Amino acid sequence: MNQGDDFPGERRRIAVTGGAGFIGSHTVVALYEAGYAPVIVDDLRNSSDEVLSKIEGLIGASIEFYSVDCGDISSLSQLFAAPIHGAIHFAADKSVGESVNEPEQYFANNLGSMARWIAALRHHGVQHLVFSSSCTVYGEPTLLPVDEKAPQQEATSPYGYTKQAGEQLLRYVHAASSADAASSADAASSADATSKPQQAMGIALLRYFNPIGAHPSAAIGELPIGTPANLVPFLTQAAAGLRDELVVFGNNYPTADGTCVRDYLHVCDLAEAHVAALAHLERTPGDIDIFNLGSGSGHSVLDVIRTFEAATGVAVPHRIGPRRAGDVVSVYAAADKAADILGWRTKRSLHVALADAWRWQQQL
Ligand code: NAD
Ligand code: WQD
Repeated sequence: MNQGDDFPGERRRIAVTGGAGFIGSHTVVALYEAGYAPVIVDDLRNSSDEVLSKIEGLIGASIEFYSVDCGDISSLSQLFAAPIHGAIHFAADKSVGESVNEPEQYFANNLGSMARWIAALRHHGVQHLVFSSSCTVYGEPTLLPVDEKAPQQEATSPYGYTKQAGEQLLRYVHAASSADAASSADAASSADATSKPQQAMGIALLRYFNPIGAHPSAAIGELPIGTPANLVPFLTQAAAGLRDELVVFGNNYPTADGTCVRDYLHVCDLAEAHVAALAHLERTPGDIDIFNLGSGSGHSVLDVIRTFEAATGVAVPHRIGPRRAGDVVSVYAAADKAADILGWRTKRSLHVALADAWRWQQQL
């Protein structure tokens, strides 16, 4: 049972698993600003309840929150007691390196909890689902920029595999829910006029490139739990003197300056893409589609260091070190499909994203 359009003007509930995380928290703010009622399901395994109060401070309202594993459906009966208009599934473990050492944990969470959560959404007739996927599904692309038709390479980590398998699960779920809808339509056409045919679940698979930065208020950002594996949080900690230096993982790659190239996008741009994806699902009920979310431009590691120093006036102590195993040499998005269909492109530059990352680091 869904709220649908029966309550025009009221905020429609969007269940956001992992909504206290880096991308989820920024998306919750964007959802509220777009007129939705985001509901957070987050067991805080990689976040803290302080993030909740920061979000509430930014939106000036309280947020419905369940500090629960999204796979623990028996603990979520209150969540499902009221209509859910849509859902965004961020909840996952996301460290490539950790996944190599803990494959069972990554399968149990990124696939096990996900499957139980999706089954509950389907059982309750939730019609719009957005899924956090990753450009990691492409591996080392043969063509650049990489578009949504590019072939997926064999996953090089358990984490990457769980993203590919998560997408495949949702293709099967979409097929099953479409079949249910078709048979309920047949039943409705032969039964009395009051019975309403079931709507197939519409699904958007969003393949993020490299999200960086923080909300300009510096109230929310990427929480530094342990030693950062990702470039930008490590860089800002080195610039803040919390790390001796940033090691650049190799400068003998076949790129302009020898360092790896990535497509960095501001996390606020990424958050807004989720609102655009939800609106797209509302316009095209029952569809399933894939969207690359990136700036469309590639920047090297040395580009990022230089841009950070230009944006902040702060030097980054760094040296060139050995390559990191498994690194992709160069990957950046073909961003036209998201622009043409979602009406979304990145608006914020690398310069702005790094300035916002620094402001966040300074208040930590
Ligand atoms: P994050 O760790 O900051 O956020 C994930 C949140 O989910 C955390 O708050 C964590 O406590 C919560 N969580 C994890 N498992 C849960 C479960 N079973 N039930 C409830 N809550 C759970 O990570 P992020 O960077 O915000 O990433 C969000 C999503 O985007 C993930 O699915 C990740 O794989 C994907 N992604 C991230 C990046 C990136 O560079 N950050 C790139 C591509 C894709
Ligand atoms: C970026 C560049 C490093 C740290 C990873 C995951 C991917 C996605 C995003 C979840 C690379 C270099 C890094 C450092 C460095 N996460 N680097 N020194 O590897 O593109 O993607 O995060 O979906 O799945 O694989 O991002 O930030 O780790 O690295 O030189 O201390 O910075 O070699 O070229 P990556 P990253």
